[in-house]
Amino acid sequence: MSGPMLDVQNLSVTFQSDGGPVYAVRDLSLRLAPGEVIGIVGESGSGKSVTMMSVLRLLDTRRTEISATELAVDGQSLLGLPARALQDLRGPVVSYIFQDPLTALNPLLTVGRQLTEGMRRHAGLGRAEARAKALDLLRRVGIPAPELRIDQLPHQLSGGMRQRVMIAIALACDPKLLIADEPTTALDVTVQAEIVRLVQSIQAERGMAMVWVTHDLALLARLADRVVVMYAGRIIEDAPARTLYSSPAHPYTAGLLASTSRIDDPFTEQTSIPGMPPDPRRIAPGCSFAPRCTRALAQCQTVVPPLVQQPDGRRLACFNPLPEAHT
Ligand SMILES: Nc1ncnc2c1ncn2[C@@H]1O[C@H](COP(=O)(O)OP(=O)(O)OP(=O)(O)O)[C@@H](O)[C@H]1O
Ligand SMILES: [Mg+2]
Repeated sequence: MSGPMLDVQNLSVTFQSDGGPVYAVRDLSLRLAPGEVIGIVGESGSGKSVTMMSVLRLLDTRRTEISATELAVDGQSLLGLPARALQDLRGPVVSYIFQDPLTALNPLLTVGRQLTEGMRRHAGLGRAEARAKALDLLRRVGIPAPELRIDQLPHQLSGGMRQRVMIAIALACDPKLLIADEPTTALDVTVQAEIVRLVQSIQAERGMAMVWVTHDLALLARLADRVVVMYAGRIIEDAPARTLYSSPAHPYTAGLLASTSRIDDPFTEQTSIPGMPPDPRRIAPGCSFAPRCTRALAQCQTVVPPLVQQPDGRRLACFNPLPEAHT
């Protein structure tokens, strides 16, 4: 039995902003098994990107406090790991596809140079060998005329092409864990679907573990083994995908599901959850969702519900969950 591919325990991230501390992530614990695919969902600002970026220490640390009792990838603890050693893990062990490829790609370097850098550094491939592998990868991610594209700069490519290049770069060193942070939101729906299929087939073929961050619960229904729901910096529900879709237990999860247009029935009217997520600079006592929750009890206003393991395999942070759906 091998250990977890990703192990995050008691992670909190606070930014010192001009308007006071921003509590972006609060006491978050998450484990991912080798080969497992999880989705992380939640409204904008719930802390999805900050969680994943702090794992790889991609946040600017000058005004950021990150604390955790464990932060490990593939059995290697990242706490206190020197920057150089961390650099060695990026690529062959863990790789990241960003929300916005334009900011993640280097505008001054050709596609080929950015693709081969990791391979040459980590796998020690020679120039010609790395170029051949890069061409192969570009073909694999569906880039037409790769021999031409490989020598171009990012701005010469369309948004969809750039996102494909990002994916190729992320896969170049055969990572064991791939973190994809809304890699398709900037793209049109047809390209989105193609990219999702592409990543899905590569994931299945290589047995990579994967974290897919998105607003789109419908998308995760096809992708994820497990879905983690975040609200105001915390995990409020974490369940096997099937369980979560058929019987959401947290009222927020149920609200998110109700406001997701169904793939099989796009004409159903969408209902959205009334109200707004809290300002992360003003965290009130109690459950952060209580002000928007139709099931809130007196206790929910004063006590933060702990995230508790349930007999049916989910983790849940709620004092008054929805009754089990009988379908
Ligand atoms: N560098 C920063 N300085 C201050 N606050 C920040 C910084 N980065 C993120 N935040 C704040 O932290 C909170 C969590 O942000 P995060 O980017 O993780 O949200 P998200 O769930 O990824 O949202 P989205 O779906 O819009 O990508 C937000 O309130 C955001 O404004
Ligand atoms: Mg984000």
